[in-house]
Amino acid sequence: MSAAASASARARSGAAASAPGAGPVVAACRLVRTPADLARHFAVRRAVFVTEQALFAGDDRDVRDDDPATLHALAVAGRRAAGAVRLYPLDDDGLWKGDRLAVLRAFRHGLLGAALVELAVRTAGERGGARMAAMIQLPNVRFFEALGWQRVGAPRAFHGRDHQPMEIALSRRGR
Ligand SMILES: CC(C)(COP(=O)(O)OP(=O)(O)OC[C@H]1O[C@@H](n2cnc3c(N)ncnc32)[C@H](O)[C@@H]1OP(=O)(O)O)[C@@H](O)C(=O)NCCC(=O)NCCS
Repeated sequence: MSAAASASARARSGAAASAPGAGPVVAACRLVRTPADLARHFAVRRAVFVTEQALFAGDDRDVRDDDPATLHALAVAGRRAAGAVRLYPLDDDGLWKGDRLAVLRAFRHGLLGAALVELAVRTAGERGGARMAAMIQLPNVRFFEALGWQRVGAPRAFHGRDHQPMEIALSRRGR
């Protein structure tokens, strides 16, 4: 089993994570239900996609964030926000999209990324989704493949950077 696949298995069994050099921490991933958690979700995304990656200038929020159909998820390690992901339905035929997956540097390689992907996939499946699509930054393609995702077509530019379109089949029972 690959490192990411075993990470996936561990993520499914609970979201235990360890931050490198900081000893083990317990992390939990949940859907955002309060304005305070939503603000923490956005702060994680800004730290990763604006400050670290410069993929967006100033703020990465868009109209999807204001759509009531959009679900925001947050990973919390101890009292600290550590990761985020967003998901939403794209059509009435069961196609969902996941995006803005981000784990703060200090919490990487601790299974939070895998746990957030698993939460997004499970949640969309439970809400009747049939497939989830995502545009994946090329260095992350193997990580997603290890979590069961498949490449769809060729990479293409997205937000000024090459991304690989990928998809995964969803199940109503979650995965
Ligand atoms: C991609 C990202 C979310 C992964 O989060 P993470 O919490 O480090 O991931 P996990 O710990 O769950 O990864 C589990 C395993 O997957 C593998 N993995 C993680 N990222 C990988 C990558 N980019 N390529 C290949 N394998 C990877 C590793 O084997 C890892 O195990 P490790 O602890 O031995 O390193 C994180 O690196 C991140 O936020 N990056 C910046 C933003 C970004 O690229 N977002 C995704 C846009 S498509």
